[in-house]
Amino acid sequence: MAVNFNNKFSMALSSLNLLITIAIVCLVSRTAFAELERFEEPAKGDGSLSFLVVGDWGRRGTYNQSDVALQMGKVGEKLDINFVISTGDNFYDNGLTGTNDPNFEESFTKVYTAKSLQKQWYSVLGNHDYRGDAEAQLNPILRKIDSRWLCLRSFILNAEIAEFFFVDTTPMVDMYFTTTKDHTYDWRGITSRQKYISELLKDVEKALMESNAKWKIVVGHHAIRSVGHHGDTQELVRQLLPILQANNLDLYMNGHDHCLEHITDTESGIQFLTSGAGSKAWRGDLQTGSNRDDVKFFYDGQGFMSVQLTETNAEITFYDVVGNILHKWKVPKELRSAM
Ligand SMILES: *[C@@H]1O[C@H](CO)[C@@H](O)[C@H](O)[C@H]1NC(C)=O
Ligand SMILES: [Zn+2]
Repeated sequence: MAVNFNNKFSMALSSLNLLITIAIVCLVSRTAFAELERFEEPAKGDGSLSFLVVGDWGRRGTYNQSDVALQMGKVGEKLDINFVISTGDNFYDNGLTGTNDPNFEESFTKVYTAKSLQKQWYSVLGNHDYRGDAEAQLNPILRKIDSRWLCLRSFILNAEIAEFFFVDTTPMVDMYFTTTKDHTYDWRGITSRQKYISELLKDVEKALMESNAKWKIVVGHHAIRSVGHHGDTQELVRQLLPILQANNLDLYMNGHDHCLEHITDTESGIQFLTSGAGSKAWRGDLQTGSNRDDVKFFYDGQGFMSVQLTETNAEITFYDVVGNILHKWKVPKELRSAM
């Protein structure tokens, strides 16, 4: 009797164990293959949204970084911005050395001091960030030093009328894996490159398909289309662009080229917007084709961009280092699908 009872009891116990194990395995694999992490930002009371976009900036205020920051503060105030987007290459020359690298405060906290810029910053990593301790920039410890800082490899920001899909483009670029003699990269988080890329593209595609936001915006460090120094990023043209075209993307925003530019995708009507002029610029080398019809604007100097969105209109403005408006462009939403 006692033996029998014990047997039954231990059988019950082991099936309970099994259940717990299954539950744990499910939980773990859910996180391992988790969809992109999501964040929320409320729109303004009238439903509109405005934000600034800056890229390629962290040089301890030098190369006019502080001048650009000053103008960002003024425009940020005027537009009553909701947040700031950084398109990567956050810290020069080689990212951060760790979470205690003083470059974080010297290039971020002590430079973007204006009241209007004390908002959440949403950042991606650039190739220069991968040359240092890339994981340091992702570490929540930095948020204790400056609560504005939020940098993830890839994530989604839902801001009511707009949804933003931040994409880690650096691991997609072949050159960083084939030409390794000049620089080393911190690929610790990317053990299998092909798997990383294919899962990332799948996640982005799924999220875009499921999105019912009025405006869909993708942010990456590398340009899809550019007539600046680096030109088009072929890996993105091949792998990412078709997904964006198939899902009615409105805007693709990037840095990497140290310039400001606006190119229209004549096939789909996606606007390609480069804002990578947060500090060093004036490279002076255009790719051929800068006079093409689809190139709406190109500026080789420092500056930044603002975006204002309502249910029905998008307004994009580029500013130079002294705050002059260089290029302004408006599109009504209803025309977007007909373009
Ligand atoms: C800083 O901006 C001024 C004004 O546009 C420009 O003349 C100067 O060359 C810039 N300095 C650098 C280092 O780019
Ligand atoms: Zn770059």
